[in-house]
Formats: sequence, structure tokens, C-alpha cells
Amino acid sequence: MKQDLVYLKRNVVPEPLFANWYAWSHLISPATAAMNITDRHLKIMGSYIQAPQIHAAAVKNPKMLGGPFMDFEGQSKVDEVKKLKEDTLNDQHKMIVFSEAIRTLNRLLMSEAKGYSLDDLYEKVPEALKGFVELYYDVNNQPGFRFFESLLYNSEYYDDSYQSINLYLITEDERPFVLSTPRLDDDKILSLNIPLRHEGIDELFKMQRTPNSYTRIKEMLQVTPEQEHLFETFFTEDAPVPYGKYEGDGIRSRYFGHACILVETKDVSILSDPVISYGYDAEISRYTYTDLPDEIDYVVITHNHQDHILFETMLQLRHKVKNIIVPKNGGGNLQDPNLKLMFEVLGFKNIIEIGEMDKIELPDCTITGLPFLGEHADLDIRTKLCHHVQLKHLSVLFAADSSNIEPKIYENVHKMVGDVDLLFLGMECDGAPLTWLYGPLMTEQLDRDKDQSRRLAGSNYEKGIDLVDRFNPKEVYVYAMGQEPWLNYIMSVKYTEESNPIVASNKLINECKSRGIFAERLFGEKDTLYNNNLEVVETN
Ligand SMILES: [Fe+2]
Repeated sequence: MKQDLVYLKRNVVPEPLFANWYAWSHLISPATAAMNITDRHLKIMGSYIQAPQIHAAAVKNPKMLGGPFMDFEGQSKVDEVKKLKEDTLNDQHKMIVFSEAIRTLNRLLMSEAKGYSLDDLYEKVPEALKGFVELYYDVNNQPGFRFFESLLYNSEYYDDSYQSINLYLITEDERPFVLSTPRLDDDKILSLNIPLRHEGIDELFKMQRTPNSYTRIKEMLQVTPEQEHLFETFFTEDAPVPYGKYEGDGIRSRYFGHACILVETKDVSILSDPVISYGYDAEISRYTYTDLPDEIDYVVITHNHQDHILFETMLQLRHKVKNIIVPKNGGGNLQDPNLKLMFEVLGFKNIIEIGEMDKIELPDCTITGLPFLGEHADLDIRTKLCHHVQLKHLSVLFAADSSNIEPKIYENVHKMVGDVDLLFLGMECDGAPLTWLYGPLMTEQLDRDKDQSRRLAGSNYEKGIDLVDRFNPKEVYVYAMGQEPWLNYIMSVKYTEESNPIVASNKLINECKSRGIFAERLFGEKDTLYNNNLEVVETN
């Protein structure tokens, strides 16, 4: 570098990896990671090695989008995948044993826990699981077990030496779907063998705003001389456009795409479900990392799906986020990892767990957790919350992907929070079947028709309009539709005008408009300024 004091470019991706696979939340929590290694990664690798041409054809078919097929953009990578499979079988041996132990314990409970005391069964718990599980019956005398997840994070089953970061420059929206394709060596990618909690990541991303020493960051990240020619290209001497902090007396709401919305007053900033685009020339205009404040007071997370918790985004924000509000965990079920523990092991600070109707009270602002229904294929997953945010006089309901299955629940909620001014609602009403996300965790095979009936689906028109009737919003925004092209790598939706989510949300928007309610399906970007009388004073 000519100059030592440099900025980080705004299109540097820190791709988080776990043993060469894109690190989403189920690869961080030890038990779900073990199950995904055996039942997702090893299976996809085996299938690719046997018939790479089927994978190459499937990824070209839009109907197969998001399916268990590797996308190497037309190249054959059989030898590399064979090697990765071998490495996985060796390096992840203890995780494979651990996942087999989970299945064995489940079979043991099904065959031997018949209503008598479970004390004697502890002896038969597979060795790999001993000391990490509690056995129980529910009140219907059905047996089950739960993990002591905090103990697992302190065991050999959480080994962050398998984590790494791929740094590279991104220049377009197109990226392969990350859940099905492992990351192989590529000369445009700089691989850093550092865990996701590494402080160098924070120092690196601070440099998007504040210039710092190139030599210092190179040393912090342990960049080798061979990597340096690539590493250099991530930096620039040009300062970014400074951030325009909101200094008015009202409220500014800024949509970044999907379920990511920043609401700000001059005193407080709240960012929901951060998933943010990089800065590069693109047809569809969008807000990017440079449109965020230098400090974010609260990040609020609604639920544990990869389009709502994206570590790739969270890592870039870690140095500027003061508090993270996560939904309270159910307490050790395999399918329901604890988000507080997860964020903590990844180096995030001040994680606040809140439950349903719990409140966080700040000056001029109250955040309340609300019940989140459905969208989790009827699995017992508690780590999900909608949010009610009362910001000055503005009352906002962020309903995320909640599916209003039982309107009486929101009738009860309405009695406590009252009408709202703004309703944000996800209407991905088709959703994927259970196995798409949770398949690797199922210890018993689910019949296809049952799998198809249990979906990760949000509200349809009827469920959505019931929320409108109930909460009487002045403005309705359909969001979290996965339509922004920069989300393709974590989503698998491509809609047409005939797709159910589009038909249903059009109908809801038209109905709202006919009632004189402002309504819109968000796409790309939107900024709205409200004054203290809740009048929209500016929008773009
Ligand atoms: Fe979701």
C-alpha cells in the first residue's frame, strides 16, 4: 500500500464458515451442528460425488432453487468434494459420533421409557451424551430429553478452530445458495483461519468508517505474505460518504430490505433482523452498511431463521451494536438452540433475552416482545418473538413471519398493547416444508404428506387482514418477502405475479387502500420521516 492509513472498501464480504460450510446458526450450536454434518453435509457431498451432473442440472432449474444441490457455477469439483468428505469424516469424527448418540438416545427413550422412573436409563445414555442431557416425561407420559447447551459450548463439541472467515470483494447480487454448497479454495478468496469471535474482524470493519493502519490490521488478521496481494485490494485511500445521523425531533424509519428496518430518533436507534447489502453499482437502489449509524443502540432479532440472523451481517456490525435483544429460549430442545449463548460465544456483548410480553423501557421508547405464531412447522420452538416498539408517540408492530393461525391470541395481545400506527407483516404464505430447514434434526422419518403439510409459512390474506382489523394500523407494510436480489444466497424464493405470496399481499394492500389505510409491499429501499404528530413529512 502507498499509504498506511486506509479505509476498508464497502464491498468486502466476511463469509463466516464452519468446516468449509457457510456458518448459519445451526452450525454454531453444537447439537444442531452435529446433526447437520451427518444429515445435510455428508449426504449432499455423497450425492454430488455419485452424480455431479444431476447437481449441475438441478441448480439451473428455478424450481429446484434452494434444494440439496451443489452449485459450482458450471465447474466440476468432484475431487475437491471427495477430499472434503474425507476430511469431514476424519476431522468431525467426534461430531458424527455425537449425532449418532442423539439418534440412539431417542430410540432408547422410545423403546424403554414406558412410564416408569427414568433414573436407571441414565446409565444407558450413550457415552458421548452423558453429562449433557436430562431425561424427562411430559404430562402425557411421553419421554424426551433436553440438552444443557451451556455445558455443550464448554465441551469438545464446540471447537471454534473449525470456524474461519473468507474475505473477498463482491461486485454483484448473484451468489450461490449457501446452505447446499461448501466453500472450496478460490484464488479470489482470502481464507483466514480465525474464529468468528476474533477481534480483528471488529477492527477490520471499523475501518469502513475510520481509517487505520494497513500494517496493523494485516498483522492482527495474521495475513501471510502470499495472501497480501489480495488483501491489499480490500482497502482504499478514499473516505466514504459520511453518515447523515438523524437529528430531527421526529422519527425516521429506513428499510434495508427483507425484515431489516432501522428506526431512529435523535436519541435512540433500533435495527431489526439485520441483513444488509454491500455497496456496489447495481440496478436496484438500496441502503448499505454506510447508511447505518456509527452506533446502534438495539438490534432486535425476531427468530432463528437464516434470513433473520445472518452472521455475515452481524459480524460487520458487532463493533457498533450496543445491545442485542433476542427471544427467550425454550431450554435445551435440539430444534431450538439458545440465541443468547450463541451470540455470546461468538463475541457479541450485552445480549438481552426477553419473553412474551416482557418489556424493555428506555427514555421515550418501549420494546415489548409479543407472541410469534407458526412458521416453524409446528415444532416446539420457543425462540421466536414479534416486537411492539413504542417510539415517542409512534406505535409499531413488527410481526416478522408470524402466521396468525389463532386470531384469539392476537386478540389477547391487542388488549395489552392497543392499536398500532404501523404494521410490518411478512406474507411468505407458501413457505418451505419442515424438512427443508429442520430435516437433519428429525430423529424419525416424517411421511412426505405430513412434511408437506407442516411448513415454514407466514400469514396469508385472511390471517393478515385479521391483524389489520384487530390492530387498526394507519400504515401497513408487507415486508420480509425475500424479494431483494441480494438475498438469493440465503433465500430460495423467486416469485411471479401468480405466486401465492404476491397474490395474497396484493389483495391485502388493495383492501387496506380501499379502507383509506396507507399500504405498500416494501422492496429495495424506503425512508420515511414522521413528525411528532405522526404525520409523514418526507418519504422516498
Ligand atoms: Fe422465518
